[in-house]
Amino acid sequence: MINRKIGVLTSGGDAPGMNAAIRAVTRAGINNGFEVFGIRQGYKGLMEGDIFKLRSEDVSGIIQTGGTFLQTARSNEFRTIEGRKLAHEQLQKYNIDSLVVIGGDGSFTGANLFSVETNINVIGIPGTIDNDLYGTDYTIGYDTALNTVVQAVDKIRDTANSHNRVFFVEVMGREAGFIAINSCIACGAEVAVIPEEQGQLDKVRDCLSTRDYKKKSTIILVAEGTEEGNAMELSEKIKVEFPKLEIRISILGHMQRGGTPSAKDRIVASFMGIAAVEALLDNQKSIMIGWQNEQPVHVPLNKVIKMHKGIPHDYLLRAESISTFIPAETKNILK
Ligand code: F6P
Repeated sequence: MINRKIGVLTSGGDAPGMNAAIRAVTRAGINNGFEVFGIRQGYKGLMEGDIFKLRSEDVSGIIQTGGTFLQTARSNEFRTIEGRKLAHEQLQKYNIDSLVVIGGDGSFTGANLFSVETNINVIGIPGTIDNDLYGTDYTIGYDTALNTVVQAVDKIRDTANSHNRVFFVEVMGREAGFIAINSCIACGAEVAVIPEEQGQLDKVRDCLSTRDYKKKSTIILVAEGTEEGNAMELSEKIKVEFPKLEIRISILGHMQRGGTPSAKDRIVASFMGIAAVEALLDNQKSIMIGWQNEQPVHVPLNKVIKMHKGIPHDYLLRAESISTFIPAETKNILK
């Protein structure tokens, strides 16, 4: 039997749309007979007892704002059993027996342990711009971040064209290349360098050595977690090999995490928040609300943290098949 008291927190890197999820958990919770408590600064605030009751009106006016109104943190202490015990004691003070964690894989690793060690019903909602979580096609914040990157790269293209330059543009994504490959498609960039693939530097070399002299610009999108090096390191190697090219680097950085959430992020986050409350009504524990085929689904947290969400090789080949630079391997793949 559940107490009908939910704690909600955001954890790890913030992502646009997290506020829509907090709002949905709060409103759907209250409207279904729960008391809802906000926890500030993720697991850090949980261990410190920074917990307060949320009313429906407290989450008014936040759906359109970036960042997270509850704030967030990365906590090393919650990785320890002592830290998690402390967190449990704080929840017990308020009789809270359900916890909704909005975050990424690091946050879910802690959430899963916490759920196994305690009687708390933990439900995860995927919130990260990286889109790198197994069991969900989509994570909150990804769409907004992707659009931010597209706008930035379009601007870089204007100046690159004017100066006949080669740009290495580094985007976020940790060890995943979703932002890089999809912004490459959307911006018409010539090459994407992503962690999921080997031999990326050779691809960049081939692209530049076959570059048509009439071509005004070349844009190489580099995912930050690529083994062969980040944008700075790759460009240094290339500069030595191609001394005649004018090369510039642009690291987009944390601007990718901010800004007004897109309509898609707001809508999916809202449905995920509602689904989290439905899952609690159904007495579910240790699951993440995933998003598959435009529907919320339940995915066991232990599966989410164990399994890897990859980018299929043929997705990359198809993306390459519409670039001005087509690697040898990619030619004729559509046959
Ligand atoms: O996981 C989201 C993310 O923005 C990654 O893309 C990036 O590697 C990381 O967080 C940066 O984290 P921080 O803001 O703690 O430097």
